This record gives sequence, structure tokens and C-alpha cells, in this order.
Amino acid sequence: MRKPIVAGNWKMNKTVAEARALVAELQPALAGVSGVEVVLCPPFTALAAVGAALHGTDLGLGAQNMHAEKSGAYTGEISAGMLRELGCSYVILGHSERRTLFHETDELVNKKAKAALAAGLRPIVCVGETLAEREAGQTEAVVTAQVGGSLAHLGAEGLLRTVVAYEPVWAIGTGRTATTAQAQAVHALIRRLLLNMAGGSVAEAVRIQYGGSMKPGNARELMSQPDIDGGLIGGASLEAGSFAGIVRGAVK
Ligand code: PGA
Repeated sequence: MRKPIVAGNWKMNKTVAEARALVAELQPALAGVSGVEVVLCPPFTALAAVGAALHGTDLGLGAQNMHAEKSGAYTGEISAGMLRELGCSYVILGHSERRTLFHETDELVNKKAKAALAAGLRPIVCVGETLAEREAGQTEAVVTAQVGGSLAHLGAEGLLRTVVAYEPVWAIGTGRTATTAQAQAVHALIRRLLLNMAGGSVAEAVRIQYGGSMKPGNARELMSQPDIDGGLIGGASLEAGSFAGIVRGAVK
């Protein structure tokens, strides 16, 4: 039985003070929720403050990106070890905004995933097709290539520590959610790909999140699909009530 995982991707939002205020609101809003793993992914600058506020709670801390190298002359970059030191247990890798705006390739995402795992972080690896790709009937090919490339050579151990996030690019921040059938079909594809890569027991254990305009009103239906094991939440994670509503939708 896979434990659902809901992660809030705050993107480039929330100062330290705002981040502290959101966590203070979230804690009572999430009181009594069990059976769902909840992870907050603030910007780098708020990781220490959010980590301190989460200390002793069940809520996990994640980053939104990292560099693949351990240290060195990489101005402006942050390593997996630095994230571990701040108390991160997760890191989002290969988000579509990173792929599009910062030219991240499957090869780079794969390198980062290996470095994250080596440092003891659990990667949340994002995949998903653009609207043009979906309309051209390329969804399956695109997602297959992204899964194969981004998750290559992680081994069964590594895959078991990895979360995959299916985020159709056309649904991110647009208010346009994939239908449950569209989302479930791609999640099932991803699970088949994992099966081919590492066998049935690994494929059955890896959690696959949906992301893209998930809201309290559509979360439960999406997450009740057999292969949808939680959500990666952007806009709706910036407000305690909507994020808590989504987390409650993940409770089986
Ligand atoms: P959204 O973003 O929930 O605002 O669509 C999801 C994401 O980008 O992870």
C-alpha cells in the first residue's frame, strides 16, 4: 500500500517572514490528518526558517532544485549536501519550469537525481508533456523518454527512494486540470515503465504524484485513481486553507 504524498512547491514565493506565517497557519489546518506524507518546498532562502518551524512535526522539508556537483566553482548554485544540512529530505528535480526556462535536460536531471540520492535526499522527479505535444499525440513518447532518461541507472534502491511527479505542462498554473482519465492513463504508463526498468515490486511501491492546477475541489477525485499517489501543488500550496484541503483529499 503506497502512502500518498502531497508536496507544496512554493516556487519563487514567500519571504522568510511570509514563510513562517504560512507554516504557522498550516500546522493547525493540518491537525489530525494522518496517513498522508506532507512536504513543504519553500525557496532556498526560507528553507532554514521553515525547517526550524517544522522541527518535531510530521511535515517534511524539500528544496525545489539543486546542483549535481558536491561543491566547487558554480556561482549561485547549491549542493545536495547543503540541502541535507538544512534538514531537507526531498528535492524537486526537472520541474517543467526548470526544463523550459533553465534548459534542463533529462541527462542533467538524471545526474542531479543520482547526486541527490547519494547525499541521502529523495528526489521528486517531474515529467510531463506540453500542450503541443499532447495535441500531436506525442504524450506517451515524451513521457516515456523523460522517465527513461531522468530515472536511468538509479537502481531499485534509488527508484524506491524516488517520487515521480506527472505534471502536464499545459495544466501548470493555468487552472486547466487534466481529467482524471487523462491523468490516470499517464500514471499507469509511468508505472509500466517503472516495471520494465526495475520489476513489479519496485513499480508497485514507487509513488507517482499528479501536478497541475490541483485544488481542493478536484484533489480527491484525482487522488482516488489507482495510480495517483498524491499531488505536487503550486498555486494552491501558497495558502493554508487550500493546501490543507488538498492534503485532506489524499486521506484514503
Ligand atoms: P500549479 O503548479 O499547482 O500552480 O498548477 C504545479 C507545479 O508547478 O508543481
